[in-house]
Amino acid sequence: MCGIVCYNGKKSAVEVILNGLKSLEYRGYDSSGISVVTDKIETLKRKGKLKNLIDEIDKIDNNANIGIGHIRWATHGEPNEINAHPQVSQDGKFSVVHNGIIENYRELKSELEDEGYNFKSTTDTEVVVALISHYYTDDLLEAVKKAIARLKGAYALGIISEYEKDKLIAVRNESPLILAKCDDGIILASDIPSVLKYTKDVVYLENGDIVEIDKDSYTIYDKNFEKVDRDIKKINMTLEQASKGGFEHFMLKEIYEQPEVVKKTLEVNLKENKIDFSDNSIDQDKLKSIDKVYIVACGTAFHAGEVGKVAIEKLAKIPVITDIASEFRYNDPFIDENTLVILISQSGETADTLAALRESKKKKATVLAVTNVVGSSIAREADKVIYTLAGPEIAVASTKAYISQLVTVIMLALDFAKKLDKIDDETYSNYIAELKTIPGKISEVLKSESTVKEIAKAIKDDSSMFFIGRGLDFLSVKEGALKLKEISYIHTEAFPAGELKHGSIALIEKNTPALSVITQSKLAEKTISNVQELVTRGAKIFTITVEGNENMADFSEKIVFVPKTLEMLYPILSVIPEQLLGYYTSLEKGLDVDKPRNLAKSVTVE
Ligand code: F6R
Repeated sequence: MCGIVCYNGKKSAVEVILNGLKSLEYRGYDSSGISVVTDKIETLKRKGKLKNLIDEIDKIDNNANIGIGHIRWATHGEPNEINAHPQVSQDGKFSVVHNGIIENYRELKSELEDEGYNFKSTTDTEVVVALISHYYTDDLLEAVKKAIARLKGAYALGIISEYEKDKLIAVRNESPLILAKCDDGIILASDIPSVLKYTKDVVYLENGDIVEIDKDSYTIYDKNFEKVDRDIKKINMTLEQASKGGFEHFMLKEIYEQPEVVKKTLEVNLKENKIDFSDNSIDQDKLKSIDKVYIVACGTAFHAGEVGKVAIEKLAKIPVITDIASEFRYNDPFIDENTLVILISQSGETADTLAALRESKKKKATVLAVTNVVGSSIAREADKVIYTLAGPEIAVASTKAYISQLVTVIMLALDFAKKLDKIDDETYSNYIAELKTIPGKISEVLKSESTVKEIAKAIKDDSSMFFIGRGLDFLSVKEGALKLKEISYIHTEAFPAGELKHGSIALIEKNTPALSVITQSKLAEKTISNVQELVTRGAKIFTITVEGNENMADFSEKIVFVPKTLEMLYPILSVIPEQLLGYYTSLEKGLDVDKPRNLAKSVTVE
């Protein structure tokens, strides 16, 4: 998620904007920039840390009273100075900062190019400033209205122009934006922490709102361009609370962001109900020459990859081998020019995954990266890159990045299946329709929080816990077991439910906790039998299953239900209570949830 801070008032715009941006630094970003209006628009942008911008801030006028600022987490285009925001129009007269994604930017870009516009960046945002400049005659507000009427997607915008030196215009559509009223000016910001140093009085702008700010007054227009009054609310949060979006920890905030992450992944990668990764996916001809796929990753990303294997084999009918990145190179993998290697990595910097990428390229495989960080090492070196759209993930334990990886690999499997003609239209459309219901269904599962809290209380003093499931449920419990162990320090082990009786069941004694996930209809009876084997030996059972399945009531101390969906999509729902279980158990034990011992967010050593 990028951050916007804009100011119009009596103070130094540079000071207010930089303070606002500093308060967002904790989230991670790859570049930053600021534009101010003096007798012209002055802009400074730098790649990397905010310090790089601050060190050279004297290059623009510190006395300017109106300006727009941004820290960027790249989604379109490499993180560099050209792609950093603000984006300035080719004539230098307009400047724009933007959060969100303009879905139809390619069409708009080619339309404007045909009219002779010269684009400099590879961002979707430059299209916005180009449109405003295109429509401007003598009224900035009118030009903005015309420009946004052409945009599809999510956007929060801050806009200034050399033609109307006292004016700041902002627009909100889906991406968050607040207006903060200070004694001596107005701040517009994407996030509450950016304004707390100056005021606690904010207006939460609504979708479709346009704000016109002159030096000491502002006017809000709603989506029908009617003037509206919006209430000013008092913020009662500390800076730390506000940084976490009001949640106690980043991990919980990120768990709750998951419906939005799925929504965004679908919005960006679906065009007219068809999956469209544009040329970031593998094209049909190349795909026809592929005789096997390797999916290689570490930890949570590997667990997403294992679901990807099932999806690609089931839907696209290509054999898939999964391998842990740290093992892959030493396994002498059977790779040639007909192999596709898919690497999954949130950070895009994991040393083992990067080494697997280099090994694959050496052996002439085609390499496709699925990563969350634009311009990361893995993204740069892969032949093709599909970006997950989770936004910056701060908690060490991965949650929303995992969900975005799951949705992306399932969409990739559908994309391959379609291109290889392995899926009929009805099945394909069913998948798309069902994927669209997933954000709402994740929100439903999140309501199980209170039951999960009770499970957390029941297991917090245990030293070990079993996780069991079959098929996709086994893959789900592998991730659940990892989540619990990494932040609660309880030893966990995930088993295919039928495998326990081949040795490990010897460990089950009275009150040994076990979590079973049962969503796969063909395997449910089998897993239930395995659960009974544990019950007989005294285990205390907790279950995650599909609503309507009452079969587990007699065996389980607590049950969490997930809404019905397609079998292939259950891992996206069943992992949610498992993530919450990790979180609440860690909380019960008074541990450092966001920064567990011995772990780092990005593992750049082999
Ligand atoms: C667990 C977790 C790790 C990472 C793994 C790979 O919550 O975050 O298991 O998934 O270290 O990291 P990336 O995805 O950055 O390559």
